[in-house]
Amino acid sequence: MIGMDRLRGHLVQEYRKRTAKSRAVFRRAEKVMIEGGSHSIRLWRPYPFFAAGAEGPSVRDVDGNTYIDYWQGHYANILGHNPRLIRRGIASCLGRGALHTGFEAGHQIELAETLVRSIGGKDAKVRFTTSGTLATMYAVMLAQGLTGRDLVLKVGGGWHGASPYLLKGVKFQAEEGFEGRESAGLLDDIVRRTLVTRFNDGDDLERIVNENGDRIACFIVEPFLGVGGFLPATKEYLQLARSLTAKHGIVLIFDEIISGFRFCPSALQTLYGVEPDLTALGKIIGGGHAVAAVVGPSKLMEGCERGGRERVMFEGGTFSSHSEYMKAGLIMLGHLVKNAPAVYPRMARAGEKLRRAIERVFAAEGIAARCTGDGNEVVPGSSLFMVHFPREAETACDRPEALHDDRRMNLALQEEILKLALLVHGVNVVHGGGAVSAAHRERDVDATIAAYAEAARLFRKFLR
Ligand SMILES: Cc1ncc(COP(=O)(O)O)c(C=O)c1O
Repeated sequence: MIGMDRLRGHLVQEYRKRTAKSRAVFRRAEKVMIEGGSHSIRLWRPYPFFAAGAEGPSVRDVDGNTYIDYWQGHYANILGHNPRLIRRGIASCLGRGALHTGFEAGHQIELAETLVRSIGGKDAKVRFTTSGTLATMYAVMLAQGLTGRDLVLKVGGGWHGASPYLLKGVKFQAEEGFEGRESAGLLDDIVRRTLVTRFNDGDDLERIVNENGDRIACFIVEPFLGVGGFLPATKEYLQLARSLTAKHGIVLIFDEIISGFRFCPSALQTLYGVEPDLTALGKIIGGGHAVAAVVGPSKLMEGCERGGRERVMFEGGTFSSHSEYMKAGLIMLGHLVKNAPAVYPRMARAGEKLRRAIERVFAAEGIAARCTGDGNEVVPGSSLFMVHFPREAETACDRPEALHDDRRMNLALQEEILKLALLVHGVNVVHGGGAVSAAHRERDVDATIAAYAEAARLFRKFLR
């Protein structure tokens, strides 16, 4: 612990030297904003840098430092920051009065057509909203409305946004594992009605469904677990989820808010060949704007149509399907569909290079580091990477239960210390890694590996 404290102290000092203006801005922000900002994941300690601008792979702070960024707008910016393509498109759209009107307008139809074509099949329908949190919340409500059932099933480590039905089993807690509630302010009843199963564990899924099947409205799962550890679902697991949910009349929801358009110009379900009932999308589909959607067959989506006796109120949203946002999403998806062979394999190669090189540079300093984010037999390659520091070198990094347990992984090293060690070497990561974008060039990846090597040297110096 002494070594960790000294290393933290050293890094905080180095970070402060470089970020005096950010520190002053943060002090001002703290006076009027909770914890000095709007999202706790952006508010690292001792204080975040404040962005002055961002372009392509990099972000610039108010002190003039530049960081190669793998956070990329919560993984939404698959073309990098501020792509000219989208800027140009929305500028012309704004010129024609696309600032908020509150009327239905055309671009949303094209974006919906793109989603239906690439994901939903002929008979699908789309409803847009403005955040992933709302998309998963509405999908769950729709499932509850359609089935008349009161239980919701999710996986431990699955983050679907801060919707009341899903604020359980996100953070691993020493006593409760993934059974804990994530927030105050939730009705006990809602927390009790959310069940948690182990990701990629077919036996556990089967047990829970067999015990509660006729009460479960939906099973929501990410085909590629995001915050839970960047782990792909196995094909057998998703196939089992499909057959069990079909057998028991449970609505299967794939949360593809990270994975949609991240691995291929569609949702990841198309590679798995497993069709859920509902798909929640967000992040990339908005081209850098607040767009999210639920896609599903008409016969289910009609559950939110007016006039139905048990109508689910999937609406609200002053800014839903905002013209400018729809246009941005359309440009983004159009680009990805058209350029998929150039975009995806290159990002996946960079992801692979980073994952293996990061493990190597830490091993060279005698530190066990493991990267998740790899694909599998279904996912051909992956631009995601997350770094973990197992306390015992041989601990397997293949389950959220291991990756989030501080007794098995050094979480402070991953979340806090590695973050600062990379920031002072010009790289920004979250959870030890992030997402490669199409804007990251070979030289950015090489500079990133060099920064990890510097971090590894520091770790050895202070922690041996
Ligand atoms: C898999 C997943 N689902 C849902 C959400 C919530 O999306 P939003 O932050 O847009 O509300 C997130 C956000 O990170 C996510 O990663």
